[in-house]
Amino acid sequence: MSLIAERLSRIKPSPTIAVSQKARELKAAGQDVIGLGAGEPDFDTPDNIKAAAIAAIQDGQTKYTAVDGTAELKAAICAKFKRENGLDYAPEQVSVGTGGKQVLYNALMATLDPGDEVIIPAPYWVSYPDMVLLAGGEPVFVPCAQNNNFKLTAEDLEAAITPKSKWLILNSPSNPTGSAYTQDELKALTEVLLRHEQVWVLTDDMYEHLVYDDFRFTTAAQVEPGLKDRTLTMNGVSKAYCMTGWRIGYGAGPVQLIKAMSKVQSQSTSNPSSISQAAAVEALNGPQDFIAAHNEVFKARRDLVVEGLNRCPGLHCHTPEGAFYVYPSCAGTIGKKTPSGQTIGSDGDFVTYLLEAEGVAAVQGEAFGLSPYFRVSYATSTEALEEACTRIKRACEALTE
Ligand SMILES: Cc1ncc(COP(=O)(O)O)c(C=O)c1O
Repeated sequence: MSLIAERLSRIKPSPTIAVSQKARELKAAGQDVIGLGAGEPDFDTPDNIKAAAIAAIQDGQTKYTAVDGTAELKAAICAKFKRENGLDYAPEQVSVGTGGKQVLYNALMATLDPGDEVIIPAPYWVSYPDMVLLAGGEPVFVPCAQNNNFKLTAEDLEAAITPKSKWLILNSPSNPTGSAYTQDELKALTEVLLRHEQVWVLTDDMYEHLVYDDFRFTTAAQVEPGLKDRTLTMNGVSKAYCMTGWRIGYGAGPVQLIKAMSKVQSQSTSNPSSISQAAAVEALNGPQDFIAAHNEVFKARRDLVVEGLNRCPGLHCHTPEGAFYVYPSCAGTIGKKTPSGQTIGSDGDFVTYLLEAEGVAAVQGEAFGLSPYFRVSYATSTEALEEACTRIKRACEALTE
């Protein structure tokens, strides 16, 4: 009899965490490695947020809280939805978890029965399919072509829906492509969804604030109020507020769903850290101006990376609207030979070659469900990005027919 449960055989560990780990190990062994795998801003948490956490500790806010969030944090989240998204949610329609990841996990655990399908546009964030599988559901992938900026079309959505479809997961701006849906693009999708009452919508808005070039962010429940009663609007403080280590995410939706998610959380982690919750209140209610300052830096880095990658023979990189990722095609390198005589047969081979030949760590597109591409995170210093582009260009130029 195996110690490890059968359900674990359905899933794999996060490949993005694996790449970061490999880069860390090579660095520790003395190699000169530039990590382009990071899924977090390189900026530190703003001081006012840190101060709120310290005050919470000194004030004795060190006990269990309500399972799915304090009244203060839920009020701050309701105010955020109203102010930024024009959405009215009551506190009992809000659930706070240990990162956006737990909110997604709770939602899927609370709703999926064996055979239930979850539509996941590809390329996708690596955790969606595995969470669906762990919860007993079936991921249904819909490839989204580069020529539509990796976005789901209404026709492809319509074709993917079956009587067993329970959720559509929408992530805008996207990890790994940085693509974001305009209001019109979302409207085309919500019109399809209105016709299929069995399908719920899970919008992962984690990168809402990281948009450039005056892009206007919108979310499904705002675009189509008729869908609000079957939408979970998920968000968090990890990315925009540089709080990845604090572990606070949240979701808002119908009370029945929120209660079920709280039940899952009550039997796993209980409340997220009381101190992190106090910090998140300050993040949402406090000054927001640093976000625009960070975005200027991110936009300059995005432009640098897109230009740098487009100078590399065999690569092609689109310019995305948001997040801190680009998703270049490496189709032009497939079939070529490395200086040591190996043939590049896949995006996995290409990123391995980059790491071994030039010490640049990126993540293969295969991990995100669309090949032949790779993901580059530009949430790292401008100098490191310049050097990375130089190295990637050298690696591409060294390939032969
Ligand atoms: C698209 C997306 N959703 C959710 C998350 C999870 O965020 P958190 O760190 O709050 O759990 C991430 C983190 O990388 C992400 O990229």
